[in-house]
Amino acid sequence: MRRNLVAGNWKMNGARAFAATLCADIAAGLSPRATVGDTDSSTPAAANSAADSAVDAIADSAADSTTAAPVAEIVICPPHVLIAGVVDALAGSAIQVGAQDVDAADDGAFTGQTSARMLADAGCGYVIVGHSERRALYAESDELAARKAVAALAFGLRPILCVGETRAQREAGDTEAVLGRQVDALLAALDGVDAKAQATRTEIVIAYEPVWAIGTGLTATPAQAQDAHHFIRARLAAFDARLADCRIVYGGSMKPGNAAGLLAQPDIDGGLIGGASLNAADFLAICKAATVAAAAGAVTGDAAGAVAGAAKNAGAGATTASTAAPATAA
Ligand code: PGA
Repeated sequence: MRRNLVAGNWKMNGARAFAATLCADIAAGLSPRATVGDTDSSTPAAANSAADSAVDAIADSAADSTTAAPVAEIVICPPHVLIAGVVDALAGSAIQVGAQDVDAADDGAFTGQTSARMLADAGCGYVIVGHSERRALYAESDELAARKAVAALAFGLRPILCVGETRAQREAGDTEAVLGRQVDALLAALDGVDAKAQATRTEIVIAYEPVWAIGTGLTATPAQAQDAHHFIRARLAAFDARLADCRIVYGGSMKPGNAAGLLAQPDIDGGLIGGASLNAADFLAICKAATVAAAAGAVTGDAAGAVAGAAKNAGAGATTASTAAPATAA
């Protein structure tokens, strides 16, 4: 079963005081650890109420997916210089920390850059790579984004590889060609990795982020997003059936008002949240929506609210549970 993931991408916003306040507000908004599976989740209503009382219930990432109903995994990705403070601020909570970029090299003469080894050592569990802003503003290629993803895996970080088409590409009917090219670069890079990185490749997260929806207030419809996610999952699975277990999250103006509809789709496993992650109430509302969607998915064989989740659990990619953390950084 794939576990929903909500990752907040702060981009180049905030400073230490802002970060401390936002982290405190988010951590306070999450109740103490409570596992949805501890309560009766035999009906959609019960699952929803369990999710409410748990709200996040955001269990730690070591939760046993075979005995506990899934709850969303929450990650905050601040600017590099704020990572240490955010790690401290979130210590003792179940919220994880990620970075927004990483260099593809392990170490060396790369002025201004940060390695995966450094991020792992600083307490990060995730790193975003290939965000469209980096592709557009800093000329990052598909190949470089893929090499960054592989570098992250090698040091025990889960990469969140962003892919997505521009408005012009969508209007030209090129969406699948663009997504295919971006995913194929990752698959090509994976071909050359060592055994350790091979073993953790299902920890890769893909973020489908249509460029035209990022920071614009425009959002892909649930159907548009589902089509893209389904395409990406099939592409991964064609390369290696195990990669169908990778989580594919949606990004692009995901807000409290549209999160539930997107998260109900069978191939949407969470969100990468930009603007709304800078507001504690909005971010918490999206985390709650992801936990409710996950709880609904735990109720199998039932109707109504369980339908989307059950479909997710029975989907092509859900043949094996894959929630183990990647190996600790070398
Ligand atoms: P947005 O950003 O939620 O502000 O659209 C998403 C992203 O860029 O990851």
